[in-house]
Amino acid sequence: MRVGILTGGGDCPGLNAVIRGIVRSSNEDTEIIGIMQGWKGLIDLEYTSLTDQDVEGIHILGGTILGTSRVNPFVVEGGVDKILNNVKKLSLDALIVIGGDDTLTVATKMVSYNLKIVGVPKTIDNDVANTDYTFGFHTAVNVGADAIDRLQSTAKSHRRIMFVELMGREAGWITIEAGLAAGAHLILIPEFPMTIEEICNILRHRMEGSKYAVVAVAEGFKPTELEDMVGDKTKTDAFGHIQLGGIGHYLADIVKEKTGYDTRTVVLGHLLRGGTPTAFDRILGTRYGVSAMELVEKGDFGRMVALRGNDIISIPISYGISTKKLVPFEYYRLAQTFFG
Ligand code: F6P
Repeated sequence: MRVGILTGGGDCPGLNAVIRGIVRSSNEDTEIIGIMQGWKGLIDLEYTSLTDQDVEGIHILGGTILGTSRVNPFVVEGGVDKILNNVKKLSLDALIVIGGDDTLTVATKMVSYNLKIVGVPKTIDNDVANTDYTFGFHTAVNVGADAIDRLQSTAKSHRRIMFVELMGREAGWITIEAGLAAGAHLILIPEFPMTIEEICNILRHRMEGSKYAVVAVAEGFKPTELEDMVGDKTKTDAFGHIQLGGIGHYLADIVKEKTGYDTRTVVLGHLLRGGTPTAFDRILGTRYGVSAMELVEKGDFGRMVALRGNDIISIPISYGISTKKLVPFEYYRLAQTFFG
């Protein structure tokens, strides 16, 4: 049997553990073909063969040895036909697609073209539905919490309000968990908008008492007054998402103007996605990879692996992309206890 693997969308720590898990758990008579740069590699026919030696020790490395892209074959002229032809050319019996909702949405569409696909959910945002965790998230939370920890002492010394901007387009999981772990004094996430006045009031109260504050804000947070998220609307990816970034600076400026307190901003951005995965993400990635290969061997196509409690289960890929897993109110309420 010949099995292709591709990694699509934003990279995240743990991808290499999945790849290693797939390769190491495959049968001797199974050949694994690594497709380079996500769906792009299947359009351009860029691939490499993967042996046990090729994946030796890669589970501790960040990024993906296969490279990734946000190429959407459905908006590339002739993209789908090229993929179908190249799957035939490579004699692939199955394809393991590792990606977030965009990559997996393409995967479900390709299933309707009779490709035999198994999915693996991936995103540091942790917003894939019907799976408790995606690998990479745990690493991102640790990096974010460490950064917020460090910013506490400098904010305190200078009696400043420090805004820390973290990734999270529609879901504020990274921001709320990193903020909770490091004791941020205000956590702003896309799911729960606030007015500028509400933000200023919490910070005024905090500054009167403690004289400094650290605010964790997700890049997708939108104050109630703003129509759109803050970002560069001229830059969109192949799935129509605008390039986000800037809410931290926006809030720092407006809060300074309205309260008079000294403010600064740190944008963590891609730092959250880089570097070596935590042990948790290495193990989760490994379990996903091994279970994905099991699904291929059983011929259970159109499904993806998922974490439910401490068990790896399988669900239809369509369940994973049916909706976004957002931070629920009960969880946000817990964080609110520590605001101010
Ligand atoms: O993959 C999700 C994500 O990390 C979002 O949180 C963020 O908005 C986006 O990727 C950034 O993507 P890019 O790497 O294309 O700048």
